[in-house]
Amino acid sequence: MEVHHVDLTISAVAEEQYPKTDYPEIALVGRSNVGKSSLTNVLINRKNFAHTSSQPGKTQTLNFYNVEDQLFFVDVPGYGYAKVSKKQREKFGKMIETYLTTRPQLKGVIELVDARHAPSDDDVAMYQWLKYYQVPLLVVGTKIDKVKPSARTKSISQITKTLGMTDTPLQLFSAETKFGKDEVWQWIEARMHD
Ligand code: GTP
Ligand code: MG
Repeated sequence: MEVHHVDLTISAVAEEQYPKTDYPEIALVGRSNVGKSSLTNVLINRKNFAHTSSQPGKTQTLNFYNVEDQLFFVDVPGYGYAKVSKKQREKFGKMIETYLTTRPQLKGVIELVDARHAPSDDDVAMYQWLKYYQVPLLVVGTKIDKVKPSARTKSISQITKTLGMTDTPLQLFSAETKFGKDEVWQWIEARMHD
């Protein structure tokens, strides 16, 4: 999709605030600092529309980005961020869980993992949880610009094995070089029309 118009409709902290439209929604999940906001920016052709930060925990609300009045990207707070209070973490957790399991507009989830390392226990738990709820899922191995071309095959097998992927698609990606952007868009467009 060629994106020209995007706006941040709402940074929601509660269900009543979610958009009342029936546009398809695609959520981005993954641990803090993995690159969810950066992926969003690449997909919508903007530099820092979704705020990115080298400090983990930048995104702390469910951010609904309206793309061309055709779909929403939903940037989800990163998990595994220790500096927010336990209580706040539980509150986010509940909100994310409810959103991911009950939202009819949700057509797919992109789980980001860092392609430089094996997925963490949190990444595995999130993956298994999404599979359990049968959410259409794309795994994106990001920051691939930091992985030598000769190590990419190993990176793919490390992600596939650690997550226990069988029939889930995997796409390598870089927000720096935009590697994988078209493939991620293709997956999203297929989900929008499901
Ligand atoms: P939270 O909002 O805290 O959950 O983080 P996030 O997942 O939205 O991460 P964000 O997009 O803010 O990126 C975190 C850091 O990683 C930033 O410094 C980005 O510039 C960097 N980063 C993200 N994607 C890439 C990538 O593909 N390659 C490289 N080299 N750096 C990246
Ligand atoms: Mg973010």
